[in-house]
Amino acid sequence: MERLRFEGGVPLTGEVKAAGAKNAMTKLLVASLLSDKPCTFHNVPDIGDVRVTVELCQEIGTEVDWDKRAGILHCQTKEIKTSYIPQRFSGSNRIPILMIGALLSRTEQDVIVPTVGGCKIGPRTVDFHINALTKLGAKVELREMKRERAYFAHAHEGLTGTMVSFPFPSVGATENTILAAVSAKGTTILKNAAIEPEIMELILFLQKIGAQISVDADRTVRIFGTRRFYETEHTVLTDRIEAASLGMAAIGTKGKVFVKGAQHTTMMSFLNKLRELGGGYTVKRDGIEFFYDGPMQGSLHLETDVHPGFTTDWQPPFTVLLTQATGASVVHETVYENRFGFTSALRDMGADISLFKQCLGGKYCRFGSCSNYHSIVVKGPTPSAGKALTIPDLRAGFAYVMAGLIASGTTTVSGVYFLDRGYEKIVEKLQSIGAQCERITDDEPARSPSPLKVAT
Ligand code: EPU
Repeated sequence: MERLRFEGGVPLTGEVKAAGAKNAMTKLLVASLLSDKPCTFHNVPDIGDVRVTVELCQEIGTEVDWDKRAGILHCQTKEIKTSYIPQRFSGSNRIPILMIGALLSRTEQDVIVPTVGGCKIGPRTVDFHINALTKLGAKVELREMKRERAYFAHAHEGLTGTMVSFPFPSVGATENTILAAVSAKGTTILKNAAIEPEIMELILFLQKIGAQISVDADRTVRIFGTRRFYETEHTVLTDRIEAASLGMAAIGTKGKVFVKGAQHTTMMSFLNKLRELGGGYTVKRDGIEFFYDGPMQGSLHLETDVHPGFTTDWQPPFTVLLTQATGASVVHETVYENRFGFTSALRDMGADISLFKQCLGGKYCRFGSCSNYHSIVVKGPTPSAGKALTIPDLRAGFAYVMAGLIASGTTTVSGVYFLDRGYEKIVEKLQSIGAQCERITDDEPARSPSPLKVAT
């Protein structure tokens, strides 16, 4: 079993490049299935979730040529060889469910897709996906066969444009419905759609390959059906979660790091909160420099939200930053009902964090009447001491990385698999900006604490 080992307290300094966005690239690969023409992607992150998605597409019939060093991926799906996604992809991530929309758009075959996985941060049901696809004319049902569960879907009469109004602006349900609607007859109108930068990226890519899609300021997305597609080339936007995470690690360790590729436009709500906290940053031509700008002032109220709000995926590392700021801050998680499990490990390390079932601070959210701890109060600054941690999910994983970088002494982190799903070459990147960290395996005893090997 692999673990990461950190010697904390070293300020991170230097320059590091943020990779292409996980939550865009995986969807772009699925979108490429709509067309039989070649697609070329640049800035492709070499991470676990992209590898799994590539395998998924290859299973269906996609030819893939991926130069991982150059970050360039060519793919083409001349024909759909099968629209049965094997059970081994069940639980791998959130991508298989999107195959329903894409495959129903491309083929009239029956589609069989295993149930989805992803981080355990709430029930993460797919009812909005199923309801929207059903409105477009698909028949979708969950069947159980010999202890295996899979969605069976078909649209033998074809899909027809319709109006869908989402109860909540779900990222995945918006994407799935857009993918299905691209080849539907007529126009599909999505109300209360999600408009995350990664969804805009998907829409831009679909437009390049031939789709006609418009987005209104009130979250209305209109898709005009088409079946004519074109060859295309696309550069994937930078991962705003990774960029912000690296920036927070720089500030949390009292360092200064230029995150190359970080895009101002996709990180506005994060930068506003960072400024409020007193974390330093300078937006430059080709990235953002993050730096410790003196003691951070907590006492702020942070509410996660759908875009353009503060994305929930920034929340776990931001919570770690709040443990280092003066005063009591409130964090209200309104996207997932169970995203504070990681705080118990932070408490063990010395953080002062209390959990609440109520909606603290601003608005009353969907979880107000549930019995889930979805608000916290963080009092800081608190010194923290290294511990052995086990990652429960991807973004909590980076929170633990930050905790290990900040804490005094040694921190070990297991469950590295989660980090590798979403952060490209995380150890090498952190080492390149001075972090004292390394990857160890359990049959290889941890070496004496310092000095650790640092890549140049
Ligand atoms: N929801 C439903 N029913 C549905 C769909 C969603 O109730 O049919 C609820 C979910 O349970 C959740 C909320 O709506 O409480 C938001 O879910 P959403 O569908 O927006 O999320 P997702 O598509 O499953 C993507 C990202 C997540 C990110 C969220 C929110 C991918 C692969 N995942 O998930 O990213 O947190 O949008 O922005 O794009 C991550 O990268 O670590 C990650 C968890």
